[in-house]
Amino acid sequence: MLLHIPNVLDAEQVAHFRQRLAGAGWADGKLTAGYQSAQAKDNAQLPGADPVAKELGGRVLDALGRSPLFFSAALPRRIYPPLFNRYAGGQSFGFHIDNAIRYDTGPGGSQVPVRTDLSSTLFLSGPDEYDGGELVIQDTYGTQRVKLPAGDLLLYPGTSLHQVTPVTRGERVASFFWTQSLVRDAGQRRELFELDLAIRSLTAAQPGHAALVQLTGVYHNLLRRWSDA
Ligand code: NI
Repeated sequence: MLLHIPNVLDAEQVAHFRQRLAGAGWADGKLTAGYQSAQAKDNAQLPGADPVAKELGGRVLDALGRSPLFFSAALPRRIYPPLFNRYAGGQSFGFHIDNAIRYDTGPGGSQVPVRTDLSSTLFLSGPDEYDGGELVIQDTYGTQRVKLPAGDLLLYPGTSLHQVTPVTRGERVASFFWTQSLVRDAGQRRELFELDLAIRSLTAAQPGHAALVQLTGVYHNLLRRWSDA
């Protein structure tokens, strides 16, 4: 499932991100790529330890915390700290599948594995600022080409083959990160998301309907059955 989540950041926040990122210490994106993806990857990336990456990554996590849609669709257990990349001058990232496990630094310098069930791209450049730079994803329903307004996020399966096409004009700046879900199976996660959307819609249309208690109970009992917390 591909899910477009609009307005994760508002225009003022996007402007702040762009201003902070313009003067940041960008490095070659190959430094963090796996062996196969290093062959395909040509972009600039902000090292995770960079203070700007840490500050803005924290703001992304705050924004996600305010998004019921992200929570409902991803059911996050762990989120790998958001990173930032930039493409310009013909740069691209050819077809690849992201590494299955990322290691985040936990308490006392321990390495905490994060299984990359879901990938996210938070667009920070508007579609009119650059040519090319489409996120192309081979989904079960065919190939999807995605280019969203600045501040909008695309959530897509970590299992999918994807690429970023060459940026032939301007620059494309984005944040990206991975989420380990409480519900590992994408099909079960999808059913829970659909059920949650239906309950919300019914709550708005028929507040206080007796069946809502039952449906909400079913949602939580399925989540209890399918999650590993
Ligand atoms: Ni990728």
